[in-house]
Amino acid sequence: MITISPSILSANFLKLESEIRALEQAGADRIHIDVMDGLFVPNLTIGPVVIKAIKQISSIPLDVHLMIERPERSIDSYIEAGADYLTIHAESSIHLERTIASIKAQNIKAGVALNPSTHESVLEYILDDLDVVLVMSVNPGFCGQRFLPSSLKKIAAIKAMLKARSNTTCSIFVDGGINHETARHVVKAGACGLVAGSYIFQSGNYESAIALLKQT
Ligand code: DX5
Ligand code: ZN
Repeated sequence: MITISPSILSANFLKLESEIRALEQAGADRIHIDVMDGLFVPNLTIGPVVIKAIKQISSIPLDVHLMIERPERSIDSYIEAGADYLTIHAESSIHLERTIASIKAQNIKAGVALNPSTHESVLEYILDDLDVVLVMSVNPGFCGQRFLPSSLKKIAAIKAMLKARSNTTCSIFVDGGINHETARHVVKAGACGLVAGSYIFQSGNYESAIALLKQT
């Protein structure tokens, strides 16, 4: 079964509590929270204060995607706020291994995200330390963008890297432009987790949208 992590970037922020409860009831496995700093990506969203509030009402894991420069300076505050999964971008941290090690040392699941133009070879010396690889299938910053098919080759390459190492613990998630059609392609390429924002929130029925993605 595919793991579904709805991105609340597309939620109605005026009704965040009921949106999160609705996602949980609809079968979401995790809540994907997009943190943007206006520097690493050209958009600004939420930080630890809001994540802490979400943590108080959520009963499923919080999957925090940090699209920020130098994440090593603030990972502790995201962990304190309640992140269960913390994903940082390979492009944002010079000492990637150290940053991942400090997340894992606090018993938090660690992920590395790759922008569409980043080669999977950056994972070579870090892959066995990771719980998640997040393949970006859009350039991060906004919801509702078109899926980039070039991500399929990358997913397959990462899947092959994991297989060659007999690594069964690290999961490949895909983020950006996911709908029931693109989901089919990414799952075929080797993904076992999907992040979806606009597809779920614009569906009119979160339960059937999530069910459709899960059955991919
Ligand atoms: C993009 C974010 C995504 C985004 C996905 O920068 O990381 O999580 O919210 O939105 P959709 O599914 O609409 O592409
Ligand atoms: Zn995201």
